[in-house]
Amino acid sequence: KRKIGILTGGGDCPGLNAVIRGVVKSSIIRRGWDVVGIQDGFDGLLYEKNIRSLRLNDVRGILPRGGTILGTSNRGNPFSYPVEVDGTIEMTDVSDQVVATIRKLGIDALVAVGGDGSLKIALELMKKGIPIVGVPKTIDNDLMETDVTFGYNTALETATDALDKLHSTAESHHRVMIMEVMGRYAGWIALESGISGGADVILIPEIPFDIRKVCKAVDDRRRRGSKFSIIVAAEGAFPRGGARIVSRKADELNAVERLGGIGNFVARELTSCLDMDIRVMVLGHLQRGGSPSTFDRCLGSRFGVKAVELIEKELFGNMVCLRGRDIRSVAIERAVRKLKLVNPHGQMVAAAEELGIFVGR
Ligand code: F6P
Repeated sequence: KRKIGILTGGGDCPGLNAVIRGVVKSSIIRRGWDVVGIQDGFDGLLYEKNIRSLRLNDVRGILPRGGTILGTSNRGNPFSYPVEVDGTIEMTDVSDQVVATIRKLGIDALVAVGGDGSLKIALELMKKGIPIVGVPKTIDNDLMETDVTFGYNTALETATDALDKLHSTAESHHRVMIMEVMGRYAGWIALESGISGGADVILIPEIPFDIRKVCKAVDDRRRRGSKFSIIVAAEGAFPRGGARIVSRKADELNAVERLGGIGNFVARELTSCLDMDIRVMVLGHLQRGGSPSTFDRCLGSRFGVKAVELIEKELFGNMVCLRGRDIRSVAIERAVRKLKLVNPHGQMVAAAEELGIFVGR
């Protein structure tokens, strides 16, 4: 009889509970295994008290719930963990403590549900002898080796719904509405919700934009008789020649971020070249919340089931993934090498341009 652990790391995302439920159900019902849930991501593995048994009762009713019943962490990298030493915080390798907790609790294998960062940590723990399988997760959809991640679809629904709502008020007031969406490195949410929500301009990190051309696009539209415009900007979009956001650490924020985010930056720049009323909305963490869509519930559930199968077959170091309509597996190492970005010359951008959407170039 096996005992497996599951944790959710990094930013939360709709569909995490579907994964947890899938893992618990297929482990208990189909195999008679024990499952333990680790509280607050990798942080939870530091102390035994954060680990509790997960039974069928514990996952009852969680399928439609957003977030993660296990909690997640903001800074939980056991290889570089903030530890207070003589009144100052020092980044310390506490991974031995993590390994000790796993061994002490008799956990045979771990399911790590996470994005790029959490999966890299999982790989490091593998090197210390912990058998791990990964489940890819991010609303940004920027993970390689899987067609899509759960959470992305729900985030798109939220963003598209917001664009629909912004449309009516923009039209009534003859305004330019700028909606900033998530996507620090990849513009998937901006691009796909922008197409689906009928945006006029889409700005993504993969295509540095020329602000004068953005201005012209909006002005041309006005001249053609459309008195309002909708701009969707991924938070990581940046002006040509400007610095790209490469790090999230507060002391390394670039100029655009210091100016209050790309939405505000674009608004300020447009104010100087357009005689139109402009408003900015940052959609923010709404995109990470809410009940998962049908697609994300199903994908999360299937990922959970597949993760258990990988453990049964001892295919450690692999993560589950979606290829076409099939759930498969792939080495985690392949998935974390680089991020999956929008191809500026790919079909999706081309379709946006065919639709008359200005994508910043
Ligand atoms: O999951 C990634 C992401 O959605 C990014 O697009 C965004 O920059 C980030 O999370 C924000 O995370 P937090 O505010 O939780 O640090």
